[in-house]
Amino acid sequence: MTNLKIQTVAKTPTVAKKQVLVIAVRSVNNTIQLVQTHSDSVAIASLGLEELGVSATFETGTRVQSPDGRIVYLIGAGNNELDEDNMRELAGAATRALTDFEHIIFDFPTEDLGDLQGIAEGALLGLYKYTEYKQPAKPTQVKSITLLTKVRNASSAIDSAKVLASAVSAARDEINRPANDLYPANYAALASKKAKSLGISVEILDEKQLEKQGFGGLAGVGKGSARPPRLVKLTYSPKNASKHLALVGKGITFDTGGLSLKPANSMVGMKYDMAGAATVFNSILAIAQLQLPIKVTSWMCLAENMPSGTATRPNDVIKLKNGKTVEVTNTDAEGRLVLGDGLSAASMEFPDLIVDVATLTGAARVALGNRYAGLMGSAEAVSAVEAAAFEAGELVWHMPLPVELKDMLKSDIADLQNAKIGNTAGGMLIGGLFLQEFIGFKRKSKTDKLAWAHIDIAGPANNDLGAYGYTAKGATGVIIRTLVSLAKGMAH
Ligand code: BES
Ligand code: ZN
Ligand code: ZN
Repeated sequence: MTNLKIQTVAKTPTVAKKQVLVIAVRSVNNTIQLVQTHSDSVAIASLGLEELGVSATFETGTRVQSPDGRIVYLIGAGNNELDEDNMRELAGAATRALTDFEHIIFDFPTEDLGDLQGIAEGALLGLYKYTEYKQPAKPTQVKSITLLTKVRNASSAIDSAKVLASAVSAARDEINRPANDLYPANYAALASKKAKSLGISVEILDEKQLEKQGFGGLAGVGKGSARPPRLVKLTYSPKNASKHLALVGKGITFDTGGLSLKPANSMVGMKYDMAGAATVFNSILAIAQLQLPIKVTSWMCLAENMPSGTATRPNDVIKLKNGKTVEVTNTDAEGRLVLGDGLSAASMEFPDLIVDVATLTGAARVALGNRYAGLMGSAEAVSAVEAAAFEAGELVWHMPLPVELKDMLKSDIADLQNAKIGNTAGGMLIGGLFLQEFIGFKRKSKTDKLAWAHIDIAGPANNDLGAYGYTAKGATGVIIRTLVSLAKGMAH
């Protein structure tokens, strides 16, 4: 993707080999019509699209050849208005289907820079493929993406799309990478190298420092593994910043469940359990590349959850970074333990807003399916994240933190327990309530907690069904675009 050229032009390029023109089609009164375009499309419209089997079903594409020899990919827009979000999806579906061409030209109805950015993001993300272990790795043929538009001064919109698409693609690579090749120490090293190259400062705590400095959650979860835990703190602090955003990510590089071992079928896919850390890591990289005027810290809570003779046992009590003791009733509820440490440490700097991202609960998938992330937290934080997600075209759904469920976290012997054995009701919400216990108070206050939002991405982090729109199979890289748009909104 790095060598790919992406540009805007005002006039349709002349017909050339290995080039395809993408146009959307819609069904109006049972006839297929081209959606308003900038090209001279009369020739295509005269082709008799129904007889050619062209479909207006959303994302369904048909290749046709116009009389001048041009290859045209007609892609169904369904009954949707072609807004920025639909065009992002269609652009992704198109590039995914057209990787045998060298030049892909989009003739979509663009009205503003947002539309251009959406199409560019979708087109770039649609080209994503995870190839690290495929032999031989087949590189895509695509060399250029061209957006046909009358909208001017597109370069910053295109640049933003490039930064975001490469952040999401990098996150997808990291999340897709199997746990034998991605573990806390080497992920910390990779993060450090990339962050430093962008002027982001890096602090890494190893297992000894974690233990000594009171990070009992990370230490406790990590100690069953031969591959010890790490806490990575990344700080982007430009001179012109007035606000501070803290991002905390769950980075379980593999979740076996620990001694509360997962059944075989539930363990498959648990390499994705570090998606939260990949999200906060690649978000801060994008924010730094875009030079947004806001201070951001990202905390990657990295551990591998394994069963062994040195692992934390059910009923063990650990002490997290904010001093609270937790009885570990289920070692598979490990995400909240490492995040409890990360949220405590983040709170100690009194940021204006804390957002954590985690593949926290299977219950989130049960409740919301594979496309929506669960969103919980304080009212102002939730509204800010909702607005940012809407702006980015990502799906979040506000869920409650019901006080009565706090009883589920009462331990007989410690301040908290991490799970209520046998309980199945409200699992996602109980996860949120547990994390809330680790949000600190505002500076000089003993009653007002810091603004905080929790995003449970257990559903949308991994797309185990088929690819759709700009979303590949496997890791999706969701919520990065939301976090970048959140930072942008706060930076004003
Ligand atoms: N990593 C899992 C959550 C998960 C499940 C993510 C499925 C993606 C797909 C998490 O650590 C976990 O196992 N949570 C438990 C919590 C329970 C023991 C309170 C769960 O959801 O069952
Ligand atoms: Zn678990
Ligand atoms: Zn987990």
